[in-house]
Amino acid sequence: MCGIVGYAGRNAAAPVIIESLKKLEYRGYDSAGVTVLGSGVETYKAVGKIINLESEIPKNLKGAIGIGHTRWATHGRPSTENAHPHNSGGNPVKISLVHNGIIENYMALKERLIGEGYEFKSETDTEVIAHLLHKHIYGSPDGKEARNNLLAGLREALKEIEGSYALAVISADEQGKLVLARKDSPLVIGLGKGENFAASDVTAFLIHTRDVIFVDDFETAVLTPDSVEIFDREGKLKEKKIEKIEWDFEAAEKAGYEHFMLKEIHEQVSAIHNTLAGKVSELEGAIYLKELNLNDDEIKKLSRVQILACGTSWHAGLLGKYLFEQLAGIHCDIDICSEYRYRNPVMHEGTLAIAITQSGETADTLAAVREIMSYNCPTLAITNVVGSTITREANSVLYTRAGPEIGVAATKTFSTQLILLYLLAVKFALVRGKLSPDYVKSFITEIRKVPGEIQQILNQKEVIRECAENFACSKSYFFLGRHLSYPIALEGALKLKEISYVHAEGFAAGELKHGPIALLDEGAPVVAIATKGQTYEKMLSNIKEVKARDAYVIAVANINDTEIGKYADVVLRVPSCDELLAPLLSVVVLQLLAYYTALARDCAIDKPRNLAKSVTVE
Ligand code: F6R
Repeated sequence: MCGIVGYAGRNAAAPVIIESLKKLEYRGYDSAGVTVLGSGVETYKAVGKIINLESEIPKNLKGAIGIGHTRWATHGRPSTENAHPHNSGGNPVKISLVHNGIIENYMALKERLIGEGYEFKSETDTEVIAHLLHKHIYGSPDGKEARNNLLAGLREALKEIEGSYALAVISADEQGKLVLARKDSPLVIGLGKGENFAASDVTAFLIHTRDVIFVDDFETAVLTPDSVEIFDREGKLKEKKIEKIEWDFEAAEKAGYEHFMLKEIHEQVSAIHNTLAGKVSELEGAIYLKELNLNDDEIKKLSRVQILACGTSWHAGLLGKYLFEQLAGIHCDIDICSEYRYRNPVMHEGTLAIAITQSGETADTLAAVREIMSYNCPTLAITNVVGSTITREANSVLYTRAGPEIGVAATKTFSTQLILLYLLAVKFALVRGKLSPDYVKSFITEIRKVPGEIQQILNQKEVIRECAENFACSKSYFFLGRHLSYPIALEGALKLKEISYVHAEGFAAGELKHGPIALLDEGAPVVAIATKGQTYEKMLSNIKEVKARDAYVIAVANINDTEIGKYADVVLRVPSCDELLAPLLSVVVLQLLAYYTALARDCAIDKPRNLAKSVTVE
């Protein structure tokens, strides 16, 4: 989740941009950069914190128009070459731009532009936009005469781009202006006196102005020190509402949410979209996971998958086990890393190890990976953090691209881990002939609907809040799930205990009668995940068993389920969906339930006691 900023004013741009970038550091960063329009296009970049960049910039740097960026790597490791701004136009540089988002078709565009003589300096998807824009303005790498102005060139270039972007662009040939564009990535303009600002979020310029215009998808904008013009998709000038931001800085950092956790629960909509970007083609019924480094023959030869993970990532892995076995017919084992490393595991020929870790730094997971790699077992890491230790140790890496997660309790990193596991299992199943291309097409259609379905749950969150408040004083909570919902029951219980300190246990519902049912007494809240699927009827039986002990049943069920209300005391609804994908929806309900329980109990939600975001000790 990168942060972009832009400034068009009369003061020196660099110090304003540096201050703004510091305000965006909470979005995560591994490198940063600035370009100002001074005597020419002058770009400075540095790896690490913004102060590293600050020390690179000459104190008296002139230029009152500029752009800046904090990068949180998604394509290419953290380095000065990969840091933004990215430039085009050789010597002297003509175009400089910063980008937040993901360009899905960048490989095809890059190959074409290289063929046309453009030289690439970075591994990023963003550099493609710089050269493509240059091409639409100057015609070729050495074109000197502009055939289009900056805005017109940008509008042409954007027609060729698939993916998400918030862009801020400046040109050596158009001094005094900053051009912006947006699709599926946040972008807001701040209105000052004799100066205007642009950024990924308002925190960047809140010390300068509270009057803002939110840029919408497919809009472009031109900022000068004294004017802001916004254009619609057809290029027509648009009237936009000026809004006043009333939040204080801390609230603005959380985009107005009370906690990072709640913000991150909401961000699952865009995070899943980003994880899927460039990896699925509905038209072709294809799943692209080139990072896997396994060809079809190697996938066919796999005899076993060994998943290694801890905590929430282990719950994702457990769902992965069900998927690999059920869909792809591949034997799959899953281990808790702290156990795996000491239990002298038996190795099998043809095993692929998958290590799941949002931070990429968990000591137990790294040790388990080293153990399995000592048997020469190929290892794939699923992580959210580019450049983390696991990415340097595993043979291949798939990134969840959820953006930085600041709340200690994992939410969006969990659901995006699940997305990658679904893609892996379906890809393996397709290659091994277990699923037909037609099935894969319909699967892609369904998985693409998930962000919208999550949004529907978020729109109903007050119902979940009310339920959480009613049970906030309970001493113990029980979570039941079967089949694909079993890992989600475990995750629901973990979320609740982590942040609200209420005792909670997750069970496979069929196991209740083998012991845990003894714990139930009158009024004990039991959350039963009862979305439609092959074990739905069995779950209804389990709910009846629980009701017979006078427990209080909170069911998570589909919106069109008219039967569940006969058995459950409260029903929390999720949209009707493919039963395979229902865990991605149920988990959002349980995250919100945990969140609102913790809120009602006045707990330190983003920083629960005794817990850390990455556990780097054994
Ligand atoms: C729970 C949580 C932890 C982590 C666990 C592993 O919300 O975040 O249980 O899942 O510490 O961390 P990673 O995934 O970074 O290896």
